[in-house]
Formats: sequence, structure tokens, C-alpha cells
Amino acid sequence: MSTVLNPCAPALTRRKFRLQDFAEHKQKGEPIVMVTAYDSTSARLAELAGIEVILVGDSVAMVCLGHDTTLPVTLEQMLHHARAVARGARTPFLIGDLPFLSYHGTPAEAVHNAGLFLKEAAMDAVKLEGGRERLPAVRAIIEAGIPVMGHLGLTPQKIRQLGGFKPQARTAAAAQFLTEDALALQDAGVFSLVLESVPQEVALHVSQELEIPTIGIGAGPHCDGQVLVWHDLLGLDDTFVPPFAKTYRSVGKMIVEGLADYRREVKDGLFPAAPQTRSMEPQELDEFQQKVRAC
Ligand code: KIV
Repeated sequence: MSTVLNPCAPALTRRKFRLQDFAEHKQKGEPIVMVTAYDSTSARLAELAGIEVILVGDSVAMVCLGHDTTLPVTLEQMLHHARAVARGARTPFLIGDLPFLSYHGTPAEAVHNAGLFLKEAAMDAVKLEGGRERLPAVRAIIEAGIPVMGHLGLTPQKIRQLGGFKPQARTAAAAQFLTEDALALQDAGVFSLVLESVPQEVALHVSQELEIPTIGIGAGPHCDGQVLVWHDLLGLDDTFVPPFAKTYRSVGKMIVEGLADYRREVKDGLFPAAPQTRSMEPQELDEFQQKVRAC
């Protein structure tokens, strides 16, 4: 199966993407490629494709669990998905997304919850949303030895304050505010920063100001890496695709076609056919028929 699925076999022998590779990629100008994934099969496929970083995003709430926002997903649900992803992929760097309210209390609570992603779900790092207001949690988590990725711009956990999934940092003042947040997060020790749904000029400026790499989603081409949500990238849900996402394959359409073929073949008596059917050994069949007749 691997050779069929994997036209670029070297991905299988690739060494693990490490924390220091983030900085090295930025220095070399080599873009970092990140996707979200939420289960073991998808993680394995991402690895086969040579994806360097997998984010077990809290977007799971929307794309897998049917919620309208990311707010309802729990820490236990995030850990459940993170464990599955870790079982599926060996070489990508794995990041667990801290869900809403799991790092908003005391720094000690934030450290405990972040630690669970490394201790119980084999993640390499955690991601959290927010700027200077989150610095006590960010500093405490990093002091505990847990690498932290930041996330600025459109931060979906603040959806109720933002009033919708709207582009951010569109005014000069907001762009300056975001830049100051980014610098504060870098000073606190985050190893990388997601910039979501911000103008490309802002992403360019922040990427030039920072020594750590930026990872963009809806932030234009000037970030040091890009991330896309699994379902958007693969066309798994045509009810909503963010305008900034690119759908590389219509996998959802292929799935519906496959399921419809299956349905039709069952209805028409074509499935299962000979290759999918097992028969008893003749001697066992004879014995069985005798027993049936004797009843
Ligand atoms: O949860 C998520 O999928 C994310 C990405 C959009 C960066 O945070």
C-alpha cells in the first residue's frame, strides 16, 4: 500500500523534523509545511507526503465534531485526537492545540494542561492563541520545558469578541498592536508563530521583524511557512471553505462516488462477488449439511 500511496518514497526514510529545524529553515529561507490532522490514518498519509509539521488543531471541533466554533472542544477530546495522530506519524513534528480555557486560569494550570500533550499524547509542542495577555501562561509553560507555538491575527477562541471569522490587523494601529504582540511572544520564548487571516503586508513585516519563523494561514506568501486545515486542503467539506484556503484535491467528491457505487452494487446484488466471498471446505460442508438434515 505504501508504494501506491507514496510516489515520493524518500519521505519514509526522512528523519524526524526537530524543534531546531524551525529556526534552521527560517535561516535558510526554506518554507516550513504544516497541516492539521486529527486521526492516525491522516497523520500517516501526511507523513507519506513528506509533511514536516502536523498540528492537531482545535479546528477539530468544527471539521470533525460538527460544532460552529472551536470553543466547545475539551482538553480530553484534544488529547484523544492527539494520541491518535501520534500513533500514525513518526517523522513530522507534532503540535497539540491547547483548547479554549485550558490555559486561561493560573500559569500552573496552563503548565499542567500543556504537559498532558507531551506526557500522555506524545506531542512535541503545544500551540496557544493570544498575545501579551497570555504571557504569564506562555512563560510558565516554556519554563516547564514545553515548546510553545504562538497564534495571532484571527484567533478563533476569541470569536465572540471578534464578532465572526473576520480578517484581522487591517488598520495601521491594529497592525502595530499585532507586531508588538509578536515581539513579546518571541521574547517570552515561543519557537514559531501562526499568523491567521491578516493582510500580506502585516505578515511580511512581522516575518521580517521576528527571528522565529511565522506560519501563515490566510496571511499571504511572505510567511516562513504555511498551514492548511486538512478538510479544506482535501475538499472534504464543500459546505464551507475559507476564501484563503486552496483545495488541492476533491477527496470528498471521490468519497461520495465510492459510497454511491457501493450502495448501488449492494442494491443490484453485485457486492459481494466471488473475490470477496469465502466458501467452506467440501468435507466440512458435507458434514454441516448432514447435521442440518439430522435436525
Ligand atoms: O486549529 C487549527 O486548525 C489552527 C490552524 C488554523 C492554525 O489553529
